[in-house]
Amino acid sequence: MRKPKVNRMVLAMCLGCFIMVIFYFQSNLKPAQGSGRRSSGQGKSWRSPLQRLYDNDQLEQSTVQVTHQGRRELLEDACRSYTRKRHVLIPEDLKHVIVDDQHGLLYCYVPKVACTNWKRVLMVLTGAAGPHRDPLSIPANEAHVSGNLRTLSEYSTSQINQRLRSYLKFVFVREPFERLVSAYRNKFTRSYNTAFHKRYGTKIIRRHRPNPQAEALERGDDVSFEEFVYYLVDPATQREEPFNEHWERVHSLCHPCLIHYNVVGKYETLEQDSRYVLQLAGVEGQVTFPASAKNTRTTGDMAAQFFNNISPFYQKKLYNLYHMDFLLFNYSTPEYLKF
Ligand SMILES: *[C@@H]1O[C@H](CO)[C@@H](O)[C@H](O)[C@H]1NC(C)=O
Repeated sequence: MRKPKVNRMVLAMCLGCFIMVIFYFQSNLKPAQGSGRRSSGQGKSWRSPLQRLYDNDQLEQSTVQVTHQGRRELLEDACRSYTRKRHVLIPEDLKHVIVDDQHGLLYCYVPKVACTNWKRVLMVLTGAAGPHRDPLSIPANEAHVSGNLRTLSEYSTSQINQRLRSYLKFVFVREPFERLVSAYRNKFTRSYNTAFHKRYGTKIIRRHRPNPQAEALERGDDVSFEEFVYYLVDPATQREEPFNEHWERVHSLCHPCLIHYNVVGKYETLEQDSRYVLQLAGVEGQVTFPASAKNTRTTGDMAAQFFNNISPFYQKKLYNLYHMDFLLFNYSTPEYLKF
């Protein structure tokens, strides 16, 4: 009777080893020469975006560079202070990291932080857009079709490590509560988002609304922000399944303490930061990052209004939930909070 048990243990150990193969030693130092891929037609003088970032003779220390260096250092310090000893990355962790092999770019997409436009730009850059050169000519739903862009999780371990070492890694973040309100408004207050109403709305109403009407239970299309907050802070929610990516924390989506991002872009400075990335990629003349539509955008004032209805007790719980994103990306505690 002992033997099967031993076998099972060996099997479990092997599986464990197999899963933990990705441990990559990143240096924040100068990238290895010539390790970036290049597309045909690019000559010997081609430099990867990562090399360009570190190349001080080409770009003198501009305010932009100083800003980004400050963000990187702050992130690194925050990771050191607030996260436990690092563990290893597994391919599953890399599902949000989009790969551009032609230009040597890795972009971790965060929903509600201009990710549709970044995906469009990357489709143009990787050729996935076909003849389209203008990102805005790509329909939004097309940009989210999986398969149009490759993610890092689809590569082999050695290919992953090579790319993590030699590509320019970037992410765009946003004030956490503004992003959350933006997700709520987009997914629960627009009548066309029936998939979200069915999948999440009905569940939220069933669990967090006392005496719900049969119609509300059926349609799930009138979830209040308050009910949404109850759903988020309920421990049962995350026990059941991971948060949907639209409200999942950047910390969990992009692993910023394990993947050492070279550029942390911010939604608050989207235009400048996007230009900076495209400059580093050497494609400034080829593609323009779309200007955002400002009229429907969720602002800090709007977020303040939504939080007005939330009791200090739940504000605090919600803040604790998103605390890491506030710390890692240098967002201060919103002044409208009352705890
Ligand atoms: C962090 O945020 C504060 C307050 O907004 C700002 O003054 C400071 O420059 C920021 N630090 C970095 C490294 O971005």
